[in-house]
Order: sequence, then C-alpha cells, then structure tokens
Amino acid sequence: MHKSNQKVGNMQNHQKYKPQANALANKIILVTGAGDGIGREAALNYAKYGATVILLGRTVAKLEAVYDDIVAAGGAEPAIIPLDMKGATENHYRDMAATIVDQFGRLDGLLHNASMLGILSPFGHVDLPTWNDVMHVNVTAQFMMTKALLPALLNSNAASVIFTSSGVGRKGRAHWGPYAVSKFATEGMAQVLADEYEGTNLRVNVINPGATRTKMRSRAYPAEDVNLLKTPADLMPTYLYLMADDSQPVTGASLNAQ
Ligand SMILES: NC(=O)c1ccc[n+]([C@@H]2O[C@H](COP(=O)([O-])OP(=O)(O)OC[C@H]3O[C@@H](n4cnc5c(N)ncnc54)[C@H](OP(=O)(O)O)[C@@H]3O)[C@@H](O)[C@H]2O)c1
Repeated sequence: MHKSNQKVGNMQNHQKYKPQANALANKIILVTGAGDGIGREAALNYAKYGATVILLGRTVAKLEAVYDDIVAAGGAEPAIIPLDMKGATENHYRDMAATIVDQFGRLDGLLHNASMLGILSPFGHVDLPTWNDVMHVNVTAQFMMTKALLPALLNSNAASVIFTSSGVGRKGRAHWGPYAVSKFATEGMAQVLADEYEGTNLRVNVINPGATRTKMRSRAYPAEDVNLLKTPADLMPTYLYLMADDSQPVTGASLNAQ
C-alpha cells in the first residue's frame, strides 16, 4: 500500500515463512473468534511459538477446548475472554483492556479475526437489521476494541495488530452486500491506523485469508467440495510472519495468506 515499497522488504516470502521456535516468546497476543476456524488455528500456532494467548469468543465451550489443546501441547496458560461482539459496548472493551493491563501490563499482538457473514442476497433485499449486525460485529466492534486497547498496545516494545479482510473487501461482488462493505471498511481502518502510528512501536496490517475450509465458508458455498480448499493450518505462515518481530517494519500492508 502507500509508502510501503521499501519498507516491505522480502515480504513476498511470507507465505513460506518458517518461524524460529521462540519467535513469539514472551508476547501477549489477543485473538478474536479464537474458538473455531482460522482464529482457533492462529491461537494454537501463536501459543506453539511461545506466546501467551488471550482467547476471545462467544462460545465458552469452544474457547475452553482451545485452552485445553494449548496446555496439553505444553504452551503457556492462556486467558479466556467470553464476549459476544454483537452486544458488547465500549464499557465492555474498556473493562477488558483494564483487565489485560492489570494482568499483563501490555499487549503485543491483536488479531482481529472474528466476523459474521450475514445473509448473502441481492442488495435490494438486504434488511436493515442484518446490515446493522454485520457492520456492528465486523467494523464497530473492531473500532471499539482497538481504541480501548491502544494504550496496552503502546506499552509494548513491538506491537502488531492484524485485521482480517476478504477478496470482496478489495473488489465488490454481487450479493455480498454488507459483508463486502464491512471488509472494505476493515481495510480502511487498518490503513488509517497504520498511517497514524507510522514510526512508532505499533504496526497495523491486514490479511486476506482466501477461500478456506471453515464453517463460514461452508455457509457461503454449501455445495462446493471442501477437499479442494486450503485449511486454516495452510495459512499460518502469513499469520505467524505478521505477528513476529521478523516482519518489522512492515506496516500498512494487506497480504494474501494464499
Ligand atoms: N473462511 C474463508 O474462506 C474466509 C475467506 C475470507 C475471509 N475470511 C475471514 O476470516 C475470518 C475468520 O473466518 P472463519 O472462516 O474462520 O470463520 P468461522 O469458522 O465462522 O469462525 C469465526 C469465529 O468468529 C467467532 N464469532 C463470530 N461472531 C462473533 C461474535 N459476535 N462475537 C464473538 N465472536 C464471534 C465465531 O464464534 P463461534 O464459534 O461461537 O460461532 C468463530 O469462532 C473472518 O474475519 C472472515 O471474514 C474467511
């Protein structure tokens, strides 16, 4: 993206990134939507490479299962934040940020992964409640969460924030209405933040996962052969690269994980 050509270095290799075993040691990383799909895989991988992971999601049983998997694999004990981003207010995010600062003193990584698809339909059929829900969960919640966590992120020596986009967040597509618009907004939020914090210890980038074998993808394409899709595990080099200090000083980039 803007101003980024010299800063991105050999970023094109991110899909083949192989982290050192301790690439994320001592990092405190919050993952939203950590109970399933891509977020679950990212949380497991961040813990595998040494991070203490904060698992945020709305289904506690799924978060507890990820917690158990991390501990069983010898990872640092995670924290769990049960939160439905559909109903959460600024106060929830302020309280959450205060708890993180109390417990850890800082936040080194934030993966904005949770989002909702809404209903795929012609634009003229999109109902306002669906529009509002998708914008709230995919855009407004991320604004509130990022804003509340900025002080904790700025307490880190090297903080990385990653937003999650989509192919339809870069080129609109028929029938993807609110979801596509929310992903354009996500790309925009990341660009604004990257520009504001350029030259500081806080970097902000975007990942477009591409078609991936998850429940969200099955809802959008119920008839396709899932065996032809990449799995969340296939995407992890890019998710690890942007979270690790090896990607410094990349900021303001929007990367394809496949
Ligand atoms: N899969 C793809 O092909 C694809 C392609 C492009 C972009 N993406 C993006 O990649 C990200 C991850 O998608 P995915 O495919 O892994 O989706 P997924 O399997 O549906 O997982 C989404 C996760 O987000 C959580 N979540 C949803 N709404 C929430 C809310 N209101 N509050 C808290 N947590 C909530 C879900 O919690 P529950 O488990 O409780 O439902 C789930 O853990 C999303 O941003 C998506 O837009 C995916």
